Amino acid sequence: MQRSVLFICLGNICRSPLAQGICEAHLARRGAGHVAVDSAGTGAWHVGEAPDPGSVRIAARHGIDISHQRARQLRADDGDRFDLLVAMDASNLVNTRRATGRDDVVLLRDFDPRGRGDVPDPWGGGGDGFAEVYAILDRSMPALLDRLDDA
Ligand code: 4NP
Repeated sequence: MQRSVLFICLGNICRSPLAQGICEAHLARRGAGHVAVDSAGTGAWHVGEAPDPGSVRIAARHGIDISHQRARQLRADDGDRFDLLVAMDASNLVNTRRATGRDDVVLLRDFDPRGRGDVPDPWGGGGDGFAEVYAILDRSMPALLDRLDDA
């Protein structure tokens, strides 16, 4: 059974911290047993920073607090520490494979009931981008958690 999941984006301040918070909220609602959830960025520019205000705001609007999270960079040994590695877009997937040596990295939108592709990068854009990212992550999470249950 897969009991740990790592969400990966580029900066670890917009998409993957939001994915982590939404995943934890879905797990709590399901009453699932312990699952370790974390997030990381392939880039190092924002290490140590809190999530982007756009992500904090859209999460808070849905009752989820992600303000305590701090950005960190993906490490080679994350491939050993996490059962499931979930990248936000195709570029992060390639870089995660390269950094960890894992060939089973998946895309977040592999679990999206509305279709495949990248989770769009909302960085530097307006609130609508963050709302769209929230909607994609929220509707993709049930199938992703089923995968954890089934694995
Ligand atoms: P994220 O968004 O990958 O969803 O955290 C970005 C944050 C920062 C940058 C790019 C994307 N950046 O170039 O600094």
